[in-house]
Amino acid sequence: MPEHSKTGKPFCAGRACPCLDQQPGNPARRKLLGWAAKLGVLGLGLPLAATTSGGGRPEKMRPQAGDLLVHAFGAQTGQALRTDDLVSHAAPVAAWPRDAVSGVVRDRSRLNLVVLLRLAESGLSEQTAQHAIDGLVAYSAVCTHTGCTVEGWDSQRLTLICPCHGSEYAATQAGRVATGPAPKPLAMLPLRLENDMILVKGPFTRKVGFQQKI
Ligand code: FES
Repeated sequence: MPEHSKTGKPFCAGRACPCLDQQPGNPARRKLLGWAAKLGVLGLGLPLAATTSGGGRPEKMRPQAGDLLVHAFGAQTGQALRTDDLVSHAAPVAAWPRDAVSGVVRDRSRLNLVVLLRLAESGLSEQTAQHAIDGLVAYSAVCTHTGCTVEGWDSQRLTLICPCHGSEYAATQAGRVATGPAPKPLAMLPLRLENDMILVKGPFTRKVGFQQKI
């Protein structure tokens, strides 16, 4: 059974969350609607061409080397993520990159949302380990199928799950598609550590988002 978070509540739990008030139905869909609604309220809908670089505005620019990762939702929103915040094989934590120079959180583009996990280093594929640090891995939270937010987690299969159409991505294998219909792996965000804070080491390993067929 896919988990949504350590508590079984959405990432945005910790305060009133509209997704908890949805009508009964598919739980995964309720959770998706919560994220979608929250991101929509912030004006962060995915653009048609989901591959823009952010137009030079720091709050929209893709993550840059040296950016600090901060909590995206919940009571600690905006606070720096610490290595202790990630529990081995537990549900992912959502994060935004924060510009190391200006301190601006790059939260004005959904394409910058990442999910962070702590996994056993011994279980990581070579490609995954290249972009991980101390078992910490970060993936784009945008599904490569049609752009829903990848927020589910199966701690047994170690897959990230998109609740829209059930795509699963192997977290220990560089985000490869374990179950479709997603056509491409999730992008990884290379990481490094500074003291116990988690920083971006380099750009996404591939374009984030999805390529709409016209
Ligand atoms: Fe993720 Fe369709 S948008 S599976």
